[in-house]
Amino acid sequence: MAFTLPELPYAYDALGPYMSKETLEFHHDKHHNAYVTKGNELAEKAGMADLSLEEIVKKSYGADQALFNNAGQHYNHIHFWQWMKPNGGGKSLPEKLQKAFDSDLGGYDKFKADFEAAGAGQFGSGWAWVAVKDGKLQIMKTPNGENPLVHGGVPILGVDVWEHSYYIDYRNARPKYLEAFVDNLINWDYVLECYEAATK
Ligand SMILES: [Fe+2]
Repeated sequence: MAFTLPELPYAYDALGPYMSKETLEFHHDKHHNAYVTKGNELAEKAGMADLSLEEIVKKSYGADQALFNNAGQHYNHIHFWQWMKPNGGGKSLPEKLQKAFDSDLGGYDKFKADFEAAGAGQFGSGWAWVAVKDGKLQIMKTPNGENPLVHGGVPILGVDVWEHSYYIDYRNARPKYLEAFVDNLINWDYVLECYEAATK
C-alpha cells in the first residue's frame, strides 16, 4: 500500500501559540512529506510496497535501516497530527482513559511528570510514548524513527522530540514544548480511540 501524506486535521494556524503555522508548514509539508516520498521509493525497492504500513515498520526493523527510518517516521507522524488539537491537553481525559491512567500510570500528575521527563531525557532525536504493552499502559521513549510497535507495544500517545518539532517556536527549550504539548495540545479523544483499538 503506497504511503500518502495525510492532510492536517486542522488549519496550519490552529495550534498557536503552542505550535506555530511555520512549524507545521515545515514539519508536515517538508519533513513528513520527505518520509512519504523516500519511504515509497525504498518500500518498492525492498519488494514490500504491497504490505501495510505497520507490517513494513515491523519487517524492516533491524533488516533495512533506511526503509525502517522512513516507514517508522511516516507511521509516527500520521498519528502525531491526530494526537493534537486546538484547545486540547490538560486533565480533561475521557473517563475510561482516566481509569487506565490511574491504575497503570499513577494518575494524571504522575503521567504528566513521567511523560515530559521521558521526552526531555531522550538524548538527541526521538519520541516519548504512552503505549499498551502486556495489557497495561506504560511510558516509553525511543530514538529516531523507532516506536513501540517494534518493542512489543502499541502506541496510544506520542510526542515528537526531534528539533524540527519545536526549534522554531521554543529554540532549545524542549521541556517547555513538552509542557505545552501536555497542557494545551493533546487530543484525548484520539488517545482514547487508540487505547480502545489497542485493548479490544
Ligand atoms: Fe517530526
